[in-house]
Amino acid sequence: MRVSVIGCGYLGAVHAAAMADLGHEVIAVDVDAEKVAALSTGTPPFFEPGLPEILSSSLASGRLRFTTDIAEVAGCELHFIAVGTPQSDDSGAADIRFVDAAVDALLPNLGPEDVVVGKSTVPVGTAQRLAEKLLSAGSSATLVWNPEFLREGFAVKDTLSPDRLVFGVADGVGQDRALAAVREVYAAAIASGTPVVETDLATAELVKTAANAFLATKISFINAMSEIAEATGANVTELADAIGYDSRIGRRFLNAGVGFGGGCLPKDIRAFSARAEELGLGSSVAFLGEVDAINLRQRQRVIDRVISDGGGDPVDLKVAVLGLAFKPQSDDVRDSPALDVARGLAEAGALVTAYDPEAMGPAQKRFPELKVASTLQQALLDADIAVLVTEWPEFVQLDPRTAGDLMAHKRIVDARNVLNPAEWRAAGFHYSSLGRP
Ligand code: UDX
Repeated sequence: MRVSVIGCGYLGAVHAAAMADLGHEVIAVDVDAEKVAALSTGTPPFFEPGLPEILSSSLASGRLRFTTDIAEVAGCELHFIAVGTPQSDDSGAADIRFVDAAVDALLPNLGPEDVVVGKSTVPVGTAQRLAEKLLSAGSSATLVWNPEFLREGFAVKDTLSPDRLVFGVADGVGQDRALAAVREVYAAAIASGTPVVETDLATAELVKTAANAFLATKISFINAMSEIAEATGANVTELADAIGYDSRIGRRFLNAGVGFGGGCLPKDIRAFSARAEELGLGSSVAFLGEVDAINLRQRQRVIDRVISDGGGDPVDLKVAVLGLAFKPQSDDVRDSPALDVARGLAEAGALVTAYDPEAMGPAQKRFPELKVASTLQQALLDADIAVLVTEWPEFVQLDPRTAGDLMAHKRIVDARNVLNPAEWRAAGFHYSSLGRP
């Protein structure tokens, strides 16, 4: 099929490359000429395993092109909207200006039987408004809402073989044709057994919001349990293992630690709360305020722990911060707990040296005064204490004897609960984690 993708950020760049990899003819559009130039040479502007490979092969096959000229989408049957919906500066609400701008730009280029497929995460009610916008502009194109659930670090795999596909469409003339078109574009995933939920526009929008709210709640739940475990001498990891064996609960997303970050979960729960307030239903999701508060408290809890384990006085305390990305296999530092811990310690007067295998460039853009080391060993050299805040494999596999030889004092705070306490203690370390003795 001939498809266009509007917006070449994380979601759009991966989606465009994946659609071309599946054999579709793809034209991908972004207003940022620099981004378009980089992507056109096969260089993604962010780190994502597997993306450079499918980007290069799709560009070489001639099935994928990037452009800044929206008029080039004319003639495509499907148009994916994959622009960002960042948190507004002045409130928790989502800023959906880019979605509206994408639809406005598409309008003059749409054919009468085209299908516009919204993938961006939007407040419930947006899709209905956009469908009305198409109608009132005289377009007979149909809008389908098809939320994206990709995880950073697994974005290519999640796009090519998603857990489920959700297609929301309003009742009406173009409904059947639009559903047939989205089923065709995702034919490979559907043929291999991916479940499909066909629903209305509002439900499709809510599926994404509700999924992220649930995942965030799971993480904050286990982090709340880790506070209780710590006060009572219990072990939160064993607790998570034990409750996780109940298949109604499940073990995934029950890892206690410094909490969730990134470009989705934090902003999506705030946007959901803001939308619920607008609907007069703030109290229905008031718990999400608590989920957010527990999550942010974890960052302060880690900062306080580093200071207390480091001897109580943060001033001139040499701290090695291991990790800056919001999670491993990503260079994304948006709302990163790791970066907040580094910043909080530096603001308290500590001498912070940070290291991350991928995220140092993006971290320094956001926090230019941050001192970074070019290797893990350099970060540890002469440190009074280390704090592991992103569970990259090279940190998880770190040999405590090597670390101990480099550091001024053998102290580590494991803010992701991923190291073996017995091993680190046997190597002479003062070891602490969150909610584990
Ligand atoms: C998330 C959703 O998983 C995805 O479906 C949605 O489309 C976008 O948002 P992503 O932001 O890539 O994806 O990261 P995810 O793997 O969900 O992790 C989010 C955060 O939660 C990370 O900071 C991670 O470290 C943290 N986390 C995750 C925990 O603290 N504990 C866990 O048990 C799991």
